[in-house]
Amino acid sequence: MAADEQADIVVVGGINTDFLVQGPRLPAPGDNVRGHLFLESLGGKGANGAVGAARLGARVALVGRVGMDARGLALLEQLEGEGVDVGAVARDSGELTGVVLEMVDEAGRSQTLCAPGANRCMTVEDVMRAEERLSAARVLLAQLEVPLEVVSAAVHIARAAGSRVVLDPAPAMDLPEDLLEAVHVIRPNAREAEALTGVEVRDRDSARRAAENLLRRGVGGAVVASPGGSLVLSSEEELWLPDVALERADTTGAGDAFCAALAVALAEGKSLPEAARFAHEASALATLRLGALAGLPNREQVEARLARLGPSGTWPEPAPHH
Ligand SMILES: Nc1ncnc2c1ncn2[C@@H]1O[C@H](COP(=O)(O)OP(=O)(O)O)[C@@H](O)[C@H]1O
Ligand SMILES: [Mg+2]
Repeated sequence: MAADEQADIVVVGGINTDFLVQGPRLPAPGDNVRGHLFLESLGGKGANGAVGAARLGARVALVGRVGMDARGLALLEQLEGEGVDVGAVARDSGELTGVVLEMVDEAGRSQTLCAPGANRCMTVEDVMRAEERLSAARVLLAQLEVPLEVVSAAVHIARAAGSRVVLDPAPAMDLPEDLLEAVHVIRPNAREAEALTGVEVRDRDSARRAAENLLRRGVGGAVVASPGGSLVLSSEEELWLPDVALERADTTGAGDAFCAALAVALAEGKSLPEAARFAHEASALATLRLGALAGLPNREQVEARLARLGPSGTWPEPAPHH
């Protein structure tokens, strides 16, 4: 999008370089395992969300912080190349751009270690500088890779301006009630849902109990990812979206794709169930490729999958092969 255009979606969140190595198995402490594949990529849930939403056709602005290093500059260029407005990304002279080291085995299991660097130094002032962008947007998408007071400030500006707020509560932690009350839709995975609610999420029933807990604490709607599928709950309806049968390469970033697509669909005025169906297909597509960024689908890919859905809005059983 052009710098003078208004964004539909503002993303406030983390920006990193992801270094991924895939090998036959994950190393145990002290091990040295020889891998066979290396990927370096733009990452961080803020960046993934921004790129994910831009690929789905939304006008997107990102609010975040990188270092003054060459990696930071390269990431900003790449974000711009994806059409993301990076005018509100601050550059920190004292910290390095965030780094994530990810190891993935052949079964797709992964292990991650990160150094947040500049992300950790984001301030409420960074958000205040983006106030105009935030107030003009339809949806704020935020995660928890930047300080909580930064997320809170952004959420409260968005609410005051009448925008919708989508929160991906990752990494896992409990959250203050005043933040939960300001969130329209929260989308935890099973581990994050447990950190927020104390409910161990194993299936549809436990996912519903976690979602009910979140609704009682003030969120408008919840999408809880659990083994086997995602439970969508608001005061009006419940929807269960079973995992789509696909040859998955890597589920990393599938949740980021879900949140980005959810934000896009809500910005377009879709209802929560409709938006969740759209996001579920985007999330499934994101598992097809290794690395979070590479898997973020474009609009045509998601629309093509939605067009093949059965009348119930979910895939007929058994899942079709195309
Ligand atoms: N086959 C599948 N079909 C649909 N969704 C899938 C499939 N496999 C994984 N997912 C989705 O992957 C996502 C993983 O979410 P999450 O753990 O938040 O990932 P991340 O934070 O790494 O992006 C969930 O939304 C889950 O529903
Ligand atoms: Mg996630």
